[in-house]
Amino acid sequence: MAAFHGGFHVLGTGRLNISGRSSFYEKKISACRASSPHCGHPMKPKVFLTREIPAPVLAFLREHSELAMNADDRVLSGAEVIAGARGCDALLCNITDPIGAEIMDALPGLRVIANFGVGFNNIDVAAATERKIPVTNTPGVLTEATADIAFALLLASARRLGEGERLVRSRAWTGWNPMQMLGADVTGATLGLIGFGRIGQAMAKRARAFDLTVIYWNRTRLSPAEEQALQVTYRPFDDVVAAADFLSLHVAYNKDTHHLMGEKQFAAMKPTAIVINTARGPVIDEKALVRVLSAKRIGGAGLDVFEREPALEPELYTLPNAVVVPHLGSATIGTRTKMGMLAAKNLLAVCAGQRPPNGVNPQIYS
Ligand code: DGY
Repeated sequence: MAAFHGGFHVLGTGRLNISGRSSFYEKKISACRASSPHCGHPMKPKVFLTREIPAPVLAFLREHSELAMNADDRVLSGAEVIAGARGCDALLCNITDPIGAEIMDALPGLRVIANFGVGFNNIDVAAATERKIPVTNTPGVLTEATADIAFALLLASARRLGEGERLVRSRAWTGWNPMQMLGADVTGATLGLIGFGRIGQAMAKRARAFDLTVIYWNRTRLSPAEEQALQVTYRPFDDVVAAADFLSLHVAYNKDTHHLMGEKQFAAMKPTAIVINTARGPVIDEKALVRVLSAKRIGGAGLDVFEREPALEPELYTLPNAVVVPHLGSATIGTRTKMGMLAAKNLLAVCAGQRPPNGVNPQIYS
């Protein structure tokens, strides 16, 4: 099999190293499709993958599809996605790839957009629905990992782990001190959950082990039996915000949840309360959050997601009462592998003429 060295495409692995020279790599992709032995396989769908994902998923995709992928460790531009996915049946993208109508129109043969992620606000689903393109996501498999990070942020913020680690690493620590870095008590506190789907519920399960009282708000209230089983109490949104010692956000991001937490909501929180966000950055008005953290009008924040990732509001890089981590919610080997397998199975189902297991726009079938 042919190989193109110098940072480009290696046939056989289906890897495509995209270095911004679209006309060049476009030629390489079409060359691959015309000449590679597996490329002529009539039954295998053509898949373009926008970013490297765990090896077992790549092996699975190579077995079941004609795979081309971006092997560069960076987000592709829209033009690069179009160039890479030209002639493909399926686009396997992720939450950092904005997939809008323009991309869909430039890829008339596209049969499915499979997102590697449970959130799919990066995709213009309405535009896909209009064009009858199924969009899929990866629910369920990242519930526990994401709840782990949310709870880790709760503990880290309450007990000032970020500050403590920075102190030790700075070599400025002078020894145990009865008044040093006193944090908030976790045991017995009230956890408020905004959004109570799979991840919110997994958070409630973890909270039980810490004797937290759990109150929640959700668009749809659970049945009394479900609430009892989970040992949670439903309260209106404003009540949850006002009563929580720890307020953890677990809503999907859409126009209704944009800046759900803003100046007014932060003002209603207890002055000692800590807000945790593992959902999507723009659920919080980050500028408003910076103002309340700087003025110490709330206790702190534990953030895995940001409004303009990977950039943060400048103050967040230094505010001591914010614990910030780089969107790690689903970042375990097992979880990312399961996400990839689910995305692969979704796209293969569509290419085989079936409904995908995790379609987010099932109305296209009606
Ligand atoms: C998702 O899947 O939506 C997460 O944010 C990625 O970890």
